[in-house]
Amino acid sequence: MYNSGKIIIGIIIFLVLATFPFWFNRGVAQAPPKLEVGTQEKQCVESTPFMKANHMKLLVDWRDYVVRDGKREYTSTTGKKFDMSLQNTCMKCHTQKTKFCDRCHDYVEVAPTCWDCHIAPVEPGQAQQAKALRSSN
Ligand code: HEC
Ligand code: HEC
Ligand code: HEC
Repeated sequence: MYNSGKIIIGIIIFLVLATFPFWFNRGVAQAPPKLEVGTQEKQCVESTPFMKANHMKLLVDWRDYVVRDGKREYTSTTGKKFDMSLQNTCMKCHTQKTKFCDRCHDYVEVAPTCWDCHIAPVEPGQAQQAKALRSSN
């Protein structure tokens, strides 16, 4: 004799158990990566919580101000002035892209395409590699 109710409950219990490793892992996700800020400066363009949540929006605003409006100076909420530039401002402080931007982006699985055009800072390891390559030729 069928009892469809029991079968469905059975299926649900089975699915919950079978997929347990997948959704359980979400709760105790991998430890966040250790970030190298890359500067002795203490403060970002805006507060750290703001940057954490909004740096992508800020960057797009900067691009629009520069490219569309020809405006290059940004005044932060604390009154500090910055040149609105990915390379010349962000990357002047965050000198280790691979240990900062990339580490976090890899962790959250985003891959901004900005570096197809914008130049990433040359990091110590990379410079040595480039030198080694050059001298081995
Ligand atoms: C004057 C130096 C400086 C500049 C310029 C700068 N940053 Fe920062 N940034 C910092 C510092 C210092 C911190 C960490 C502050 C702290 O420890 O709370 C930080 C933190 C951050 C964080 C948060 C990291 C975290 O731990 O969650 C992000 C994201 C970030 N910056 C992105 C950017 C971007 C994008 C730009 C360009 C729009 C930029 N920063 C420009 C110095 C700078
Ligand atoms: C603490 C973590 C963290 C750090 C550090 C960080 N980012 Fe991000 N970034 C994110 C997250 C999370 C997103 C995706 C947000 C979303 O999907 O809405 C993102 C998205 C972006 C985007 C938009 C990508 C897209 O395709 O929409 C850009 C541009 C970007 N980050 C630039 C930078 C740069 C430049 C740095 C280093 C100076 C940096 N980020 C450092 C967490 C970080
Ligand atoms: C197809 C090439 C290309 C890509 C991809 C690209 N940009 Fe740009 N970006 C440019 C060019 C060209 C300018 C104009 C340079 C100038 O006037 O100084 C510019 C200017 C900017 C500026 C203002 C000037 C400066 O020195 O930074 C910002 C900020 C910026 N882009 C952010 C971004 C971000 C963030 C991304 C990724 C989400 C991105 N761009 C992707 C080509 C590109």
